[in-house]
Order: sequence, then structure tokens, then C-alpha cells
Amino acid sequence: MNPLHRLTTRIEAADRLDAVAAKIRDIASPLGRPSSLRDKLTGRWLGHSVHPMLVAAPIGAWIGAAALDVTGASGTAARRLIGVGTLAAIPTAATGAADWFDTSGAEQRVGLAHAALNDVAVTLFAASWWSRRHGRSVRAIALSGAGLAAVGVAGYLGGHLAYVRGVAVNTTAFQSGPEGWTRLIERDELTTGVPVGATLDGLEFVVVDRTDRVDVLEDRCTHRGAPLSDGVVTGDCIECPWHGSRFDTATGMVEAGPASVPQPVYRTRVVDGWVEIRRTEVGGLRRNPIGAAHDTG
Ligand code: FES
Repeated sequence: MNPLHRLTTRIEAADRLDAVAAKIRDIASPLGRPSSLRDKLTGRWLGHSVHPMLVAAPIGAWIGAAALDVTGASGTAARRLIGVGTLAAIPTAATGAADWFDTSGAEQRVGLAHAALNDVAVTLFAASWWSRRHGRSVRAIALSGAGLAAVGVAGYLGGHLAYVRGVAVNTTAFQSGPEGWTRLIERDELTTGVPVGATLDGLEFVVVDRTDRVDVLEDRCTHRGAPLSDGVVTGDCIECPWHGSRFDTATGMVEAGPASVPQPVYRTRVVDGWVEIRRTEVGGLRRNPIGAAHDTG
């Protein structure tokens, strides 16, 4: 096991970090409450998490400064790049914190360590900027180097959160229902405005009878995977039981975050008292063959 993997495993098991996380949640609670600010930070307006996009700004600026240092061209340009990177780290941290609020357990601990290391990096780069301003170039370059090392380890932990733990990814990316019309549930089993769960070939769906039509969406919330069939229908939307995201049941569009990715919806029709569904998309992402017997996409 490589040292970074070992470090990550230890952080995941370090439950004493939970008390620290609880205190930070208290202090930064406005970022965790439903609000238009929170929606902006988590990416509802973008249809995608914002944090991965913003991280390019500070890291790019800091690496640019390092390249100038290495080539012996450090000076005003390198100092400005470090200043820009340090300022860009502020909104980047805010978007990461907004995503972190919806984690728990091991994910929450790794997220905390990721943020702490990035804080160390920002402090080192701020000190480097100050040293450069006062002509202490050797110290400034050493501080930048230490900052890059911290941001590198933080990046490893951030990648672990997304690629291994699945934080801030679309939880429905590998799911898909039938390409052709297929019976899902008898309409008699539905009550207007009440979400009902249904299973087809191992995939879960949530069905909402709208009197003049029937809406069907994938049951697993795109945000963190909650069963929407345990949620409530409010107006045109279904509200997720875990973090309160609201999805339009006809279009799947996110009407309130923290979810950023729309919920997959299906075409529906009622034939001989049965609700039938088929996929609306063509092609798209590779699909998980397990539980998608009708899928050829
Ligand atoms: S799981 Fe978080 S809003 Fe649905």
C-alpha cells in the first residue's frame, strides 16, 4: 500500500475527527442550510458540481509561479500569480465546503483533512507572497514548494472523495431503464400525488400519478442516492428525503439544491391499466450491465 493510500485509510478510520467536524458544521452552518447561496455553491445553476471547475484557478496560478521559480524567472510575475492563486482559493474553498456538508462518516473525515491541508497550503502561499514582496526570494520559493506539496496531498484526498467515495458525482450515471416500452406497475396501485416505488430488472423507479399523466423518474437521487420514493410530492416537484433537493417530476430538472444534476425521467404511457416506460435518452454514458437487461446503449 502506498503512503498516501495508507494515510487516507487512517484518516477514514479517525473517528475523533468527528467532534472537530461537528464544531465546524456549527460555525459554518449558513453554508449547510438550504438557500440560494448554497444552490450557487453546489452548482444547481451549472447542472454540475462547481468545485472541480474552480480548483483549476488556484492550482494553475501556483504551478505557474513554480514554473517561473524553476526557470529562474521568479519576480513580479511569480508574486502576482501566487497572489491570484491565494485569492482564488477563497471561493474554491466555499464550494468545497458546501459539498462537504452533505457527507458523513469516513467521507466527512477525509473532506476535513482535504480542507485542512488546503488551508495549510493557502497559508504557505500567502507567506510566500509576503516574503517575495520583501525580497526574501529563497524563503519565498521554499514556502511555495511546501505549499505545492500540501496542495498535492490535498488533491489526492479530493480525488479519493470523488473517484473512490463518489462524493459530488451523479449517482445515476450507470443506471438505465428499458429502451423499449416495458410494463412497470399497474395504475390501480397509484394514488394521485403520492410517490410509489417500483422495481424493474433490479432498477428502482419512483412513480407519481398526476391524474392526467403518470411521471416516472429513477428512484436514486442524483445527489447522494436517497430513495426519492420516500420523499414527498410538493406541487410540481418531488422532494428528496435526505437533503431536501426538489426535482420537477415531469422533466427531472432540479428546482432546489443541493443536487446539481437533473433526475433521469422516463417516457410513460398507460396501456391496459399498466404504466409502461421507456428511456428518453439516446446513447449517453456507458451503462452498468447489471440490472439493465434491456439496455444495449
Ligand atoms: S440525497 Fe441529497 S438531496 Fe437527495
